[in-house]
Amino acid sequence: MERVYIADAAEHVDQNVTIKGWVHNKTHKGKLLFIMLRDGTGMIQAVVFKGNFDEDYFDELIRLAQESAILVTGKIVQDKRSKGGFELQADEVTIHHEAQEYPITPKEHGIEFLMDHRHLWLRSTKQNALLKVRHKVIKASRDFLDNNGFTLVDAPIFTPSACEGTTNLFETEYFDAQAYLTQSGQLYMEAGAMAFGKVYCFGPTFRAEKSKTRRHLTEFWMVEPEMAYCDLQEDMIWAEKMVEYVAQYVLNTCEKELTLLERDLSKLETIKAPFPRITYDQAAEILKKANSDFVYGDDFGAPDETILSQEFEKPLMVTHYPADVKAFYMKRDPDNPERALCVDVLAPEGYGEIIGGGQREDNLDELLKRIKEHELPEEAFQWYTDLRRYGSVPHSGFGMGIERTVTWLTGTHHVREAIPFPRTMTRLYP
Ligand code: 4AD
Ligand code: MG
Repeated sequence: MERVYIADAAEHVDQNVTIKGWVHNKTHKGKLLFIMLRDGTGMIQAVVFKGNFDEDYFDELIRLAQESAILVTGKIVQDKRSKGGFELQADEVTIHHEAQEYPITPKEHGIEFLMDHRHLWLRSTKQNALLKVRHKVIKASRDFLDNNGFTLVDAPIFTPSACEGTTNLFETEYFDAQAYLTQSGQLYMEAGAMAFGKVYCFGPTFRAEKSKTRRHLTEFWMVEPEMAYCDLQEDMIWAEKMVEYVAQYVLNTCEKELTLLERDLSKLETIKAPFPRITYDQAAEILKKANSDFVYGDDFGAPDETILSQEFEKPLMVTHYPADVKAFYMKRDPDNPERALCVDVLAPEGYGEIIGGGQREDNLDELLKRIKEHELPEEAFQWYTDLRRYGSVPHSGFGMGIERTVTWLTGTHHVREAIPFPRTMTRLYP
């Protein structure tokens, strides 16, 4: 019999097919057993009629534990009342593997228990929907850049130096030397931009974050475009266009998942460029009015970002932070050298920063000065400063965190559910 995926049921109405899946749950009423069958692409109710089976075997099916692997052969029929709109009238049920008692039951479980069973929890409808949206966010980000002439340039994971400050570096032995896990592919993308014009990398990045907020992972994925001959203003246009594209793509392709996650779709419909732009100083004013205990001159903390992002319906672009709170590579504002030509994009509804980026220092002497000020080892940055020796041009880029973006688009509370196997300060298992 032809093997069919549940997602394709509509194309096989009134046909006899085999569906290979797992028992999600079941109910038994007299001569009828209803098995909710899951195959990863969807759910379908299989109706098993006692009269068609050996009595002992029917009893065995009734006793099947959740997540037992079964193959069901039968006719797919349209049924408006059932989940997904189809039903499978079982002629044959083969038990491929009988599961032991499944630890995740429909009752409430604590988050730590669920995270300890993340390898199984991925099978639940909600987690499944979240990770399908994640797939689309990644695809949309890459499609956007691919369609706009960007070349994918992969950045290394082992690096000799820090990109985003030395406080959260993961150090590792590298034969007789010391290496760090990459915090960002940016510096390598700057080399790429000078070679290819417009480039991006997409990959995992690592930060030993000692914070337990709902926004921090120690391993997260970032998409990082970088453009040569590009200033902060153009950088911001790329950023808002990409966010718009990703949000609209998810809205158009994940309606089922978003609805299951009870996401308010109208909130995503409004995510269209242009996005509001304010400076750090204007943001500080808003925080002052909101009586935040924010200290002028500091970077915004998570609660400050929450306040700011709740003020606007669209993502908010905040520019010109004090250079002191930002990374060494940021170009200073020529009109006010205390300020950096940088931008953070804060997602609405209190989700906070999803993008960090800006214009890079393209002057050799200035850059060398910053490297000294930040007490970074000049030798490790020799190659990076070379980019300012051989045809240096204004260039900019940004990094969008995949998990933060998924968390926002799906309306999820914590970033740990937006990645298949989260890594945080307190979690390395499973
Ligand atoms: O603002 P960040 O630190 O910027 C950079 O790394 C730049 N080098 C990127 C660039 O210009 N190419 O990080 C960028 C984004 C943040 O806005 C956030 O979405 C995400 O990466 N991010 C995290 N996501 C989850 N857990 C963490 N600990 C994160 N740290 C940053
Ligand atoms: Mg940032």
